[in-house]
Amino acid sequence: MPVDWTLRSAGRHVRNPLAIYAGLALAGMALIILTVAPLASKVVQRWSQRDVELRSRLVFNSIRDQVAAGLAQSNGTNLVGFFNRIAEDERLLALGFCSDAGQLLHATKRLPPSVDCASVARTKNDTLATVFDAGRRLLVSAFPMSAGAVRGHFIILHDLSFVDERAAKARLYAASALVGGMVGTGLLAAAIMLGALRGWQQVVRSALADVRQGIEPSARRADLLPFTSDMRLLLRDLRAERREGDGLQVQWSPQTLNLLLEERLPDTEVIAVSNREPYIHNRKNGAVALQIPASGLVAALEPVMRACGGKWIAHGSGSADRETVDARDHIRVPPGDPAYTLRRVWLSEEEQDGYYYGFANEGLWPLCHIAFVRPTFRLEDWQQYVAINQRFADAVAQEASRDDPIVLIHDYHFALLPAMVREHLPHATILTFWHIPWPNSETFSICPWREEIMYGLLGSTILGFHTQFHCNNFLEATDRFVESRIDREQASVTVAGRETMIRPYPISIEWPPSALAGQPPVAECREAVRRRFALPPATRIAVGIERFDYTKGILDRMRAIDDLLRRQPAWKGRLVFIQAAAPTRGKLAAYSALQCEAERLAEEINLRHGSATYKPIVLVIRHHDPDEVFELFRAADVCVVSSLHDGMNLVAKEFVASRDDEQGVLILSTFAGAARELSEALMVNPYDTYAMGEALEQALLMPPAEQRERLRLMRELVRVRNVYRWAGQMLLDAARLRNQQRIVASMVAETGG
Ligand code: F6P
Repeated sequence: MPVDWTLRSAGRHVRNPLAIYAGLALAGMALIILTVAPLASKVVQRWSQRDVELRSRLVFNSIRDQVAAGLAQSNGTNLVGFFNRIAEDERLLALGFCSDAGQLLHATKRLPPSVDCASVARTKNDTLATVFDAGRRLLVSAFPMSAGAVRGHFIILHDLSFVDERAAKARLYAASALVGGMVGTGLLAAAIMLGALRGWQQVVRSALADVRQGIEPSARRADLLPFTSDMRLLLRDLRAERREGDGLQVQWSPQTLNLLLEERLPDTEVIAVSNREPYIHNRKNGAVALQIPASGLVAALEPVMRACGGKWIAHGSGSADRETVDARDHIRVPPGDPAYTLRRVWLSEEEQDGYYYGFANEGLWPLCHIAFVRPTFRLEDWQQYVAINQRFADAVAQEASRDDPIVLIHDYHFALLPAMVREHLPHATILTFWHIPWPNSETFSICPWREEIMYGLLGSTILGFHTQFHCNNFLEATDRFVESRIDREQASVTVAGRETMIRPYPISIEWPPSALAGQPPVAECREAVRRRFALPPATRIAVGIERFDYTKGILDRMRAIDDLLRRQPAWKGRLVFIQAAAPTRGKLAAYSALQCEAERLAEEINLRHGSATYKPIVLVIRHHDPDEVFELFRAADVCVVSSLHDGMNLVAKEFVASRDDEQGVLILSTFAGAARELSEALMVNPYDTYAMGEALEQALLMPPAEQRERLRLMRELVRVRNVYRWAGQMLLDAARLRNQQRIVASMVAETGG
């Protein structure tokens, strides 16, 4: 069977280059041998025959006088003896004389009968001819001569067999010498190559070991060896990819993120856009007070921007915001330790009503959350939404100092912004992250501007969601409402020749959280909280902390407390549930109704189970700074996150991060994206009041060892999958796409396409 010089690899038919080189070398060798060996044999044959011819003439010249004398005398009778003596020479076969009459005279015995005078002695000149006799090659030399009246040709026959033998030997020796030489050279070359390869292997190995430890390949090695720029680039990529892929070994941090930007996206301008600003300045009692809003988006993006620098464009919503910016509406933040620039965009009341309260929060918010609040879509709201998206797109264009910035667009307030920014800055890399769930296409189809929203988002380079499930929903909606090509393997959508990657990037929090830095030990936090709320020392504390939003399941968890106290009255007086709720979107009926309902329900439950000194539900409706939030987390036995539907829910991750004592239990709704990661929490269906009540009791009775075991696993996950990893993965994907685009652009330029 013929050898198959190809290898099959990952479904592709790949030629083995070594096999090809070996085949070519063998063919070359065969060609050389087939050419050189016959040449050598021919040369040897010629030389030898020429030698014999010379000898033939020499013989004739040296004996011609004696022969002539012999012929003249007595009719040459003594010549035979003379000829016989001369013919004793090894290669001289026979001698003779052909008369002009064609008669053979005085011939020695070994003259073959096939040699006749008629054919060999015909001209007046010397002739040397080769003839075959009984398989032998013979040289027949005929020299015309005369002796007196006798005229004729002196004939000398040489046996040429030895010439052929010599030629054959020459051929053999030449072939053997060539083969030997080639094999020897090949072996020598292979030995040298192997030595060189081993050296390279060692260099690459030690360089990779350096990479593994996160350090630069040593300068000594790099200088001594022929480290090409390609190799350096490859190692650089490898280092970055390790940071990206191997979360268990690489601790994502502000430094890693910085390094990533330096190495993979050098000279990059980062511009973030969100509705909510990270620092709000409010005028309070005549002074300017700083507020950090209760927002998962801010909690996640702020540390990233601190690490990356750049600009953050957001709505200036504080009552003292205008007083604190410069002429370009810029303010450097964080206050006291500035790391990036906040650019504030101003919106009128009317604009906020239409764009923020109206279309974003009465339309898209309930549309995307399964919380049974009917979405409301009004044309005027939509028009404001379009106008404000355009205003932010103009702001991005103003702030961009180059034509290819990385623009990070956040959330459902800006569905149209990606395509609008693309209009201004066609070369920008636009990363859009949708912080809330994406509904199934049936639900999404009720939005009157569904196509516009889809086309807007598909202006992004990368569109991110918290979970694969939301990505799938988006692809399904694309399939239904957009003229596009969907590549499900690559998870990308191409519209009018422009491709958008659709990817899951589970958002997270900074690790370690900065709010943890100033926290006293857990016992002191508990003491402080008990004092603040006048709780007896043995009281068990459950907490819920978030914006006062109907998606959070605040009423449902209160009902679960009620249910537990009804079924297990022994907890009365021993369990308090503190709900810290930041007022939000209060202008909207659904939100004000929720707040009223929560207050009413808390009162009802407190009446049912409480006393003059005991209130099982403590409802604190105000903004809490991160320090206060962390103090509450650390004071709690149980944290309840009972979202009816949530993209991720960072409260769950913050609670886990706050518990460096490894105590406390997280109760988590299966409808929050976080449930896909924090699987050691007690999972609940917030619609199932009874089950949630049971989970509460299970949490309160959980042994410390089990609490530790669960928290350790969750803390490790949040530590590794922190927000720097979230941002890092998006930026790495962006860097890859930018490189690909550059390569394609330079190829197009080279080919003049
Ligand atoms: O949950 C989505 C989200 O945009 C969060 O990222 C953010 O915390 C919140 O909603 C927005 O709240 P607000 O309307 O107060 O900015």
